[in-house]
Amino acid sequence: MPHLHISEFKEIEFPSQEDGVSFNFIADNANHEEEKLISVTVDEDEFFLLVVDEDKKKLLKSDKLTRPASIYNVHKALLTYAKLSKMDVLSSNVPQNQKNMHLQEVTALKDINYFATDFPKNKNIRIEVGFGSGRHLLHQAINNPETLFIGIEIHTPSIEQVLKQITIKNIDNIVVLSYDARLFMELVPSNVIEKIYVHFPVPWDKKPHRRVISTTFIQEARRILKVGGTLELRTDSENYYAYSYETFIAFNKTTLHINKNKDIAIISKYEDRWRKMEKNIYDVTMINDEESPELSLEGDFNFSEVKLSGHEILKLNKKIEKIDGGFINFERSYMLKDGVMLRLSMGSFDKPEHLYLIVKKDKAFYYPNIPLKSKSNLVAHKFLNEALHG
Ligand SMILES: C[S@@+](CC[C@H](N)C(=O)[O-])C[C@H]1O[C@@H](n2cnc3c(N)ncnc32)[C@H](O)[C@@H]1O
Repeated sequence: MPHLHISEFKEIEFPSQEDGVSFNFIADNANHEEEKLISVTVDEDEFFLLVVDEDKKKLLKSDKLTRPASIYNVHKALLTYAKLSKMDVLSSNVPQNQKNMHLQEVTALKDINYFATDFPKNKNIRIEVGFGSGRHLLHQAINNPETLFIGIEIHTPSIEQVLKQITIKNIDNIVVLSYDARLFMELVPSNVIEKIYVHFPVPWDKKPHRRVISTTFIQEARRILKVGGTLELRTDSENYYAYSYETFIAFNKTTLHINKNKDIAIISKYEDRWRKMEKNIYDVTMINDEESPELSLEGDFNFSEVKLSGHEILKLNKKIEKIDGGFINFERSYMLKDGVMLRLSMGSFDKPEHLYLIVKKDKAFYYPNIPLKSKSNLVAHKFLNEALHG
């Protein structure tokens, strides 16, 4: 995680601009004065830098919730803020003269809104969830030039590495998304996907709610797969295999194939490791046998007039509201020069969405992005809208 250790935080004037970086506004945590969020825009990327105390030191780093698409933009924002504020930087892990030609040229990296507003209409589309080093994704794309591959990852260094490979190898049939694949599935139209690969997912034995494979994931996979389309799980974990088998077999109108130690065309970094350790590898392949109804999601993320005062909104801090089909957790509250801001998690408990909500006078809006249009997010939003309306 890129960061600067600083002796003392210095505030600049907001808004300010320097070297192509815009510093839009600052938000002060209403309950912990040492924590601040700085809104930044670099190119099309809008995200927060976070100021915190850590181990008796002050740190300026990127905020995990508003993860920008490019680490390069975080580096640029951190260095530019330090320069503009003339802060005393004690130490840093940010390269000073970074060249980032690949990322600047890359068009393969897409934002979630790209998929939400106009999902690709290619004839053959395959998805790889958690592509890691990308060996399998790149191999498949090179060998199937007529197919569009959507690679989804949450680990930024893996994404950057694969984007570089895509540019070097001049591959034009991969699009990459930095997002939780479990949420992504909910906005994919029905009956359009040929294959979904889930290779060596993290087993999460102690936190099963974080697993990729779940009843909801399989339900969504069935819905988005064409008839005859497949969901392919490959794992070295006997426990994960047994759990997945049980979850898959509960579904009607699907065909399951189980394989043990099957050879596939390309061996990933993880598989290499397990093979050397002579571990068994399990494949569960689910074939979808049924056409699904069209995806229908009614509603939007607009707010009606806010009736609660800023003071009343700040008092929502730390409240958790359970609602039918979802929840809202008011995690933190912030003061702005001209309003208030809340950090929320909302939606379904298994895969909550984390975001910020800004309220200025009687207007409320999510920042920097609206939530994903999923059933549980729409339910949570409706509740929030009514709560702010008073
Ligand atoms: C054990 S690695 C396997 C990587 C690769 N498939 C391979 O076989 O080498 C699991 C990968 O899944 C990613 N991951 C975990 N949960 C995810 C999620 N919900 N959405 C997208 N990627 C996820 C992790 O960041 C990690 O890179």
